[in-house]
Formats: sequence, C-alpha cells, structure tokens
Amino acid sequence: MNSTLEAQETTFIEPFSVDYDLVEGAMKNPTNHLVRRASDMRGHYRDAAALQQLIDTGNPVHYEVYERPVPEQYGHLMFCISDLRPGTVGEECFMTKGHYHTRLNTGEIYLALRGRGYMMMKTNDGKCRYEEFAPGRMVYVPPYWGHRSINTGSEPLISFCVYPGDAGHNYGDIEREGFPRRVFLRNGKIHVE
Ligand code: F6R
Ligand code: ZN
Repeated sequence: MNSTLEAQETTFIEPFSVDYDLVEGAMKNPTNHLVRRASDMRGHYRDAAALQQLIDTGNPVHYEVYERPVPEQYGHLMFCISDLRPGTVGEECFMTKGHYHTRLNTGEIYLALRGRGYMMMKTNDGKCRYEEFAPGRMVYVPPYWGHRSINTGSEPLISFCVYPGDAGHNYGDIEREGFPRRVFLRNGKIHVE
C-alpha cells in the first residue's frame, strides 16, 4: 500500500525497533555503518600538513555513523547515531565533514547523549551560527542550514539525529565554501574563530 501526498510517493513499511548502546554510541544491528578516518577529511582542516601527519601515523578514525535506513522519501524519517572521536588536527578540534541537505528546505534534530561539542551551522548566503552540544541538550538545525558537528571535549561526542527521509546530503557545496568559523583547542581552552 503506497500513499501519495503532494505527488510524492511514500512507501508503506512494517514498524520496527532498534537497540542502541548509548555509552558507546552504537546501534546494535546497523544496516549501514559509516567510518570516516583522517584520510577522508582532506581539505576540511586549516592545517593540511598536520592532517597528513595524522594520516601517516595511523590514520585514526574521526567518526562513525550507524544507520538503519528507511525509504528516502517524503513522509519517512531517517535517523542515526554517531560517535565523533576527541582529538585535534594541529589545534583544530575533530569534526564531521558537514553538509547541506540536497532538499535544502529540510531540517534536522540532534540529541546530544555524551561528550561536549558544537553544532556549527551556515547558510549559503554567509550566515554562521553555532550551538553547544552537551548531554540532555537538543539542537535544532532549521531548513537551509548546512551543519557540522565538532568535538571540543576529551571523550567521544555521541549524538542521535532525525531528519526527513527525502533530505539527501550535499557535501560538494560545503567542500567548496567551507565554514566561516573554526574551533580550536589552545592551552586547554576552546576558541571559536
Ligand atoms: C544526517 C546528518 C548526520 C551526519 C553525520 C555525519 O543528515 O546530519 O547523520 O550525516 O553526523 O556527518 P557528515 O554527513 O557531515 O559526514
Ligand atoms: Zn544533516
């Protein structure tokens, strides 16, 4: 049984449940498990030489994302849990690549479960804002805002997110534009510059 609303297809599926390890930030039986290492982050940090050194000395995991995908359609809700490791490239805090949603007018909810950090957000006309991540805090990423998570703490930053099934991911524009602000750890203090 498929229903059509605003001429967009929404596939009927059976209900299901998912079990999480909220401390490790893992899904028990993920269908998709994405692992991004230092070598996947070329072009994103200010200090390219420091990133290359990290790649040459073990190429550590930056973050992992666990998903049980649903149809990528209007009406469905995609969700995932992610584990962004602590660390720095030079002095810049570990972060996700960041993206806009392909359908720009789709938002996202992030629930912080463990660790400390920021959600850095930008629009394609140059606005930039950030919100703090801490356990028990929800960050709302409104439609039109590109977003990137940043770990400012000494333990993994674990978060759970939910977004429209038909949102899609646009990495290319963020790679070209970058974010206007970066987050650094200097002498034990966090600086947003
Ligand atoms: C989905 C979303 C998150 C990120 C995840 C990894 O729309 O925002 O699930 O995909 O935090 O970050 P990226 O996708 O930027 O590598
Ligand atoms: Zn997103």
